[in-house]
Amino acid sequence: MKLANRKSSNKKKFQGKIVLITGSSSGIGRQAAIDFAENGAQTIILASRSKSKLEELERRIGSDFSSEVLVYPIDVSKEADVIRMGREILDRFKYIDILVNNAGFGIYNKVQDQQIEEIKSIIFTNYLGMVYCVKVFLDSMIERRSGHIINVASVAASFGVAGLASYCASKYAMMGFSESLYHELYGSGVGVTVVSPIGVKTKFFNNESFHHRTPNYTGFMLEPKKVSKAILAAANSHRLEIMVPFYVRAGVWFKHTLPYVINPIVGYLFRKQLNKSKNEKK
Ligand SMILES: NC(=O)c1ccc[n+]([C@@H]2O[C@H](COP(=O)([O-])OP(=O)(O)OC[C@H]3O[C@@H](n4cnc5c(N)ncnc54)[C@H](OP(=O)(O)O)[C@@H]3O)[C@@H](O)[C@H]2O)c1
Repeated sequence: MKLANRKSSNKKKFQGKIVLITGSSSGIGRQAAIDFAENGAQTIILASRSKSKLEELERRIGSDFSSEVLVYPIDVSKEADVIRMGREILDRFKYIDILVNNAGFGIYNKVQDQQIEEIKSIIFTNYLGMVYCVKVFLDSMIERRSGHIINVASVAASFGVAGLASYCASKYAMMGFSESLYHELYGSGVGVTVVSPIGVKTKFFNNESFHHRTPNYTGFMLEPKKVSKAILAAANSHRLEIMVPFYVRAGVWFKHTLPYVINPIVGYLFRKQLNKSKNEKK
């Protein structure tokens, strides 16, 4: 028995489960794939654009764990890619147990300086990519009265901040869609949970609009492992949203309860950061 298998033999929470993770070539999605494998998932389906990175992860999981791994190099913003992947998976397995909609990216600059194509690209990837995946697998989940959809949003689903208008819009949209779906699916056996982290140390900030700099928005950044842990918890949760860390919820509560106090503070801090980054780029 391989060492990692022995280590994880007590952790078989996801034994027999088929898990699909979008955006699994990097960061949070990659870590979640490893953690589902460590927790005994039967099959892990990896989906994102970079075939070589997905294959590298396939080898890593194959060498350390016993999960079967399937690689789908797809662009979630393209409906045809998602439909093709969904058909192949449903033909083969008839269903999946857990869908993690995690693929996403952000572009950091003012609305005034953003191209419409950039804005569309964010919405098509972060929001519609999730909708395409949900639509492909939802019927089979409802028929089986089983399944869980996990949508990785962000604290940006609760705060609109300067420099990230399109990104925040995509995450607010994800949150609204998930909340409605959560209520529609009440009693169906199918769950929906949104995982909303603050800043995480990933390649997210490698997008050139961040100028290869990680903004210190929140005082500190999380490790992907912390968010992955929340994703695994979400798979067995009845909650609509899990914020990471949990106490960020207090900030959201303050925002809704005392908007006239909180909004100017948040506005000032993010505006300052955006202006600083603009000056650095000059
Ligand atoms: N890092 C943070 O501070 C933070 C905070 C809150 C929420 N989030 C959210 O967490 C999620 C994961 O991001 P991350 O932090 O792990 O960043 P990351 O390391 O850059 O990973 C992003 C993943 O999304 C995939 N992806 C991007 N566009 C795609 C597309 N069109 N089709 C398919 N896959 C695509 C990328 O793979 P390919 O390039 O191979 O396609 C990659 O696997 C995102 O939804 C992000 O919004 C991140």
